[in-house]
Amino acid sequence: MATLAMDGHIPAHVPGDLVRDFDFYHPPGLGHGETLDIHQLWKDVQDSHPRIFWTPRHGGHWVISRYADIEAMLLNHGTFSNAEPFIPRGVIPFQTPVQLDPPEHGPFRKLLMPAFMPASLARATDRARRAAIDIIELLQPRGHCEFVTDFAGVMPIMAFLTLINLPVEDFAYLRGVAVEMGNPTNPGAAQAWADMSDYVLRQIRQRRDAPQDDFISSVIAGKVAGRPLTDEEVFSMCLLIVGGGLDTVVSMTSLAACHLAQHPGQRRLLQERPELIDNAVEEIARRFGTSNLARLVRSDTEIAGVPVKAGDIVLGLFPLAGLDETVNPDPMTLDFERARPRHLAFGTGPHTCIGNKLAKREIRIFLEEWFRRIPDFRLAPGTMPHVHTGLVNSVARLDLVWDV
Ligand code: HEM
Repeated sequence: MATLAMDGHIPAHVPGDLVRDFDFYHPPGLGHGETLDIHQLWKDVQDSHPRIFWTPRHGGHWVISRYADIEAMLLNHGTFSNAEPFIPRGVIPFQTPVQLDPPEHGPFRKLLMPAFMPASLARATDRARRAAIDIIELLQPRGHCEFVTDFAGVMPIMAFLTLINLPVEDFAYLRGVAVEMGNPTNPGAAQAWADMSDYVLRQIRQRRDAPQDDFISSVIAGKVAGRPLTDEEVFSMCLLIVGGGLDTVVSMTSLAACHLAQHPGQRRLLQERPELIDNAVEEIARRFGTSNLARLVRSDTEIAGVPVKAGDIVLGLFPLAGLDETVNPDPMTLDFERARPRHLAFGTGPHTCIGNKLAKREIRIFLEEWFRRIPDFRLAPGTMPHVHTGLVNSVARLDLVWDV
C-alpha cells in the first residue's frame, strides 16, 4: 500500500483489502498509449481486480465493471444520482439534462427529442453517407491513410453539424476543441471547455437575435413546467449535445477499424454476408464501448455485498459490461454472428444515450461504404495505434494501408 497516490482519501468504511492504486486515465499496461487493443487492457483490469474496489485517485472513488452491478446502478437513480457523472469533479461545466435526476430530468430530455426524430436523423445520416463516400473515394487510390483524421473524425461530425444546424465551416475548429475536451486531466482541457462554452454561447446569441428552425432555437423557445428555460439551462443543454456528439462516434468507429485491420476473418464475413450488418453494429458497440461515467451515492447502500455510503462516487466502467463473460460467452472475440450481443455502451435507464440511433447508423455507414471500396486493409507496417482513455476510450492515431 506504500505506493498509493494519496491525492484522495480512503474513508473509514472502505475495507483495506478493497483498495487499489488505479487511475482510469492511465490503466495498467497502457504506457504511453500505444496498444493494439485498449479493451484487452480494460479486460485485464476486470479480471485482476475485485468486483468492486476503491481507488484514492481523483479525489477517491469506487470502481465497478460487471454487467449486473452497472445495470443495477443505472436503473436505481434514487440511490445513485447523476449529479456527478464526470471524474475528476469540477473541470467539466454542468450539463443539462445528464446531471439531473428524475423527475426533474424528464421534461428537459423531452426538449432534446425533436433533434432525434426520424426526419432530422434521416437528414443527418444522408449527410454522413455523402461525406463518407466522398472521403473514401478520395482516399482509396492513395493506398493509405491516418484513419482518425482522414475519415473517422470527419464523417460523424458532418452528421452532427447537420443534425443541429451548425455551420459546416466550423468543422475543423470543433474537432480540435473536442479532442482537447476529451481528457479533463490534460492541461489544455479547461481552456477547451471554455472555448466550447464561448462557441455555444455565440450560437445561442445568434438564434436569440434571429430564430431558426433548428435544435438550438427550439431549446431557446422551450418550456419546462410552464416556464421558459433560464439562460443557464439553454446553455448547458446545448453544451451537452455539442460535447456528447463530437467525440464518441469518432472513437467507436476508430476502435472498430483498428480491430478489423488486424482480423481478416471478420472483414471477409462482412463482405460475404452483408445481412449481418445490423448485428455487426451491435457487436461493435458491445466490444468497443467508449464511455466511463460515474454516479453520486445519495443514501447508504451495498454493491455486491460491499457497503457504500452517501457521498461516495462510483465509477462504472460501462465498456466492461459487454466484456463480462457472465452475459456474453467468449467476450473478447468480435463475432458478427453472436446471437444476442448484450452491452451497456449507451447506458440504460433514464439517461440512455439519446444519440444511440444516430451513432449506430453512422457505424453502419462506415461498414457499408468503407468495405464496398476498401475491403482489405491492415495496420501500416511498423506503426502502432495510439489510444487514450478516461471518460472516453478513444484512438488518437491509426495508420492503415491497403493495396491499390
Ligand atoms: C458511439 C457513440 C456514443 C456512445 C458510446 C454514447 C454513450 C452514451 C452513454 C453511456 C450515455 C449515458 C450517460 C449516463 O448514463 O450518465 C449517453 C448519454 C447521452 N448521449 Fe450519447 N453516446 C454516443 C453518441 C452520442 C451522440 C451522437 C449524441 C448526440 C448527437 C449523444 C448525446 C447524448 C446525450 C444528450 C446524452 C444524455 C441523455 C440524458 O441524460 O437523458 N450521444 N451517451
